[in-house]
Amino acid sequence: MRFGHFDDAAREYVIERPDTPLPWINYLGSEDYFGIVSNTAGGYSFYRDARLRRLTRYRYNNAPLDVGGRYLYVRDRAGGDVWSPSWQPVGADVDGYRCRHGLGYSVIGSQRGGIEVETLYLVPLGETLEVWRAHVTNHRDTRADLSLFSAVEFCLWDAWDDATNFQRNWSTGEVEVVDGVIYHKTEYRERRDHFAYFACSEDLAGFDTQREAFLGPYRGWDRPLAVERGRSGDSIAHGWAPCGSHHVELGLAPGETRELVFVLGYAENPVDAKFDPAGSQTIAKARVRPVIDRYLRTDEVEVAWRRLRDHWAGLLDCLQVATPDEHVDRMADIWNPYQCMATFNLSRSASQFESGIGRGMGFRDSNQDLLGFVHMIPAEARARILEIAATQLPTGGAYHQYQPLTKRGNDAIGSGFNDDPLWLVLAVAAYAKETGDLGMLDEPVPYDNRPGSETPLYEHLQRSLRYTLDRLGPHGLPLIGRADWNDCLNLNAFSDTPGESFQTTENREGGVAESVFIAGLFVLAAGEMAALADRCGRGDEARAHRAAAEGMAEAVRRHGWDGAWFRRAYDHFGNPVGSGGNDEGRIFIEPQGMCVLAGIGLDDGTAATALDSVAEHLATPHGVMLVQPAYTSYRLELGEITSYPPGYKENGSVFCHTNPWVIIAEARAGNGDRALDYHLRINPSAREEISDRHRCEPYAYAQTIAGRDAPTHGEAKNSWLTGTAAWSFVAVTQWILGIRPDHDGLRIDPRLPAAWDGFRATRRFRNATYDITVRKPRGTRARVTHLVVDGRRIDGNLVPPAPAGAVVTVEAELDPGAP
Ligand code: GLC
Ligand code: GLC
Repeated sequence: MRFGHFDDAAREYVIERPDTPLPWINYLGSEDYFGIVSNTAGGYSFYRDARLRRLTRYRYNNAPLDVGGRYLYVRDRAGGDVWSPSWQPVGADVDGYRCRHGLGYSVIGSQRGGIEVETLYLVPLGETLEVWRAHVTNHRDTRADLSLFSAVEFCLWDAWDDATNFQRNWSTGEVEVVDGVIYHKTEYRERRDHFAYFACSEDLAGFDTQREAFLGPYRGWDRPLAVERGRSGDSIAHGWAPCGSHHVELGLAPGETRELVFVLGYAENPVDAKFDPAGSQTIAKARVRPVIDRYLRTDEVEVAWRRLRDHWAGLLDCLQVATPDEHVDRMADIWNPYQCMATFNLSRSASQFESGIGRGMGFRDSNQDLLGFVHMIPAEARARILEIAATQLPTGGAYHQYQPLTKRGNDAIGSGFNDDPLWLVLAVAAYAKETGDLGMLDEPVPYDNRPGSETPLYEHLQRSLRYTLDRLGPHGLPLIGRADWNDCLNLNAFSDTPGESFQTTENREGGVAESVFIAGLFVLAAGEMAALADRCGRGDEARAHRAAAEGMAEAVRRHGWDGAWFRRAYDHFGNPVGSGGNDEGRIFIEPQGMCVLAGIGLDDGTAATALDSVAEHLATPHGVMLVQPAYTSYRLELGEITSYPPGYKENGSVFCHTNPWVIIAEARAGNGDRALDYHLRINPSAREEISDRHRCEPYAYAQTIAGRDAPTHGEAKNSWLTGTAAWSFVAVTQWILGIRPDHDGLRIDPRLPAAWDGFRATRRFRNATYDITVRKPRGTRARVTHLVVDGRRIDGNLVPPAPAGAVVTVEAELDPGAP
């Protein structure tokens, strides 16, 4: 069952009924000011940091879900009928409900009793504010007299403190209301130099800033007393819960439409010019007032909306494809890059599943996210790489997380996740291939952010590889440390204390537990490093890296192969994990994906065997599961993975992040059919028709889909902020479609399903544009043997870089006879 449809031309998802299985969200803002907005106008806003600069309050895990938002109430003065055009929070029946989630904006509207209200929400580029533009139309043939109320609840800035420290916080709240603008200024009197404001384009009939005055005793946002009686209380908050609500009276002739604008924003004043007059406690407003006035004008809103659409079109223009499959096109052209930008902006901080008060930036997560946005924003990707690398430890190890505001490693979580450093090599290689900028390798970058410790970035990468080689176990495989990519495979934790973190508890470092996954990742990273070394004129080092990769691949062949698939690991006692001899957890997806992705087993048949085992044991109609059989009981020696009920999260769900690895592996092994088939099983658009089962948004990848062992098989969770976005983008565009940046040019190396007859694509690459046409005889598994570039034949599959500004025509006629 569907709850809406894709409007591909408008680049929108149109939700047609408000009672979606979960709040289906969109993101507003892509610079400093951000918001989450759900299809019923729930969500919250923050400046830069979802924990420390939260503007509005939101209540996670509430009943009903999704409490706190950007609310409007309509009251009919004749009869007193009250409703919300976004359905929530009032919940009164509405007709013609529509929520259009677009790129960086959402439009939510509906009708009731002949009155239609449609609200556009967006954050103008370059501003730290959001605009709500409401169109109110009277479809009746009589005049309508309406009272309109807005409502937001302010958060007292630090969202964690706000949700816990009531003994203080119920006494600190302060506001000002001046010229119809509501200013939220809690703690502005002391150390904060920032405040929030909420303005309205209309003359006000009243306002409220004290939540309880607006709602009335023992009432929720669904039936505020002020709205019910049709009159605001003009309340001024002193402590308790400051809110912002405007009351506007509207008289509409039959057929008339009125346009109203609300502006909610964040502003800072210089520390020495906070107050006006100086010495008073009144916010200095001279700086912010012109900004407010500007965006209260509807023509400015139109301009901002157009600029926003142009901005996104510019980003998406970096790659557009036209294939025989609409789900591939829609995700590759629109929603997947959009989601990749969300991971760039927000890492894992703020979604329906990430509460904005939790994790910092993951070292491995951020490096992988980069693979999905480097082609759109290479300069920002470069800065991100340098920021990540500066948190690396002198040993080559990495803090598992760093804090977005301070950019420093997080001591509380520490290091010892032995895969972490290797992802940095992949990120740098991806950046270098995309841009050709090898100069970045010479950038001086500190360790642990300590001034004076700088070495060229190149050496950071060498230390990353060294870190693995310095930590090999009894089989010559990398020691796993606290965990590898799978945070929940904790082979040294032996945690038996309730509530203790599996990832940070005291580790029994016996020097025995090894990871086959890290071995595969090392082979991949060492290969990338060798290619970089070659291009830096360091041929000897390149050879050494290749030798190290070969040595590691050999260790995998000898000790990582189980007979029909790659083993996952060796535990603290030296016993294999993910082996046919285990009673549960016999086969894991990660080493099958990563080892083959790294090229292991492609020439001796083991890759094909491993992939067949994946198809046989792990593949379901809802994607490829992480492990089978899932663990049915807690195992001290395996850690958090066995803490989850079977079929959930790392314990045998379809952990979507890993699926693209297998998809790439299938493509590398020449099996485009299986690659596309696996992709479509997790492609959200392809799952749209089972939205009632999938439950998350049909336009964003989810981290996890319940596996076969769960009663909820097929149900997705943790949409939006997941490494699935970047890896799916890489798998589809670079491996199935085969448009792959390489150091010496753009490779065109598709592995298409037999039924396809080709595709077209436009790719921006190093400031030139490539118009690519791939043709293939249907029913074959053909490969590229030569290209025709601007009419000239080139053997092989590499298009050399063209001068900036050039438009290059690339034709690839696939050859069914090619190996
Ligand atoms: C989450 C984490 C990621 C980890 C994965 C598997 O997505 O953010 O770092 O690799 O889970 O445990
Ligand atoms: C928990 C989650 C796992 C996630 C990790 C991040 O272990 O189960 O998926 O990667 O937290 O710290």
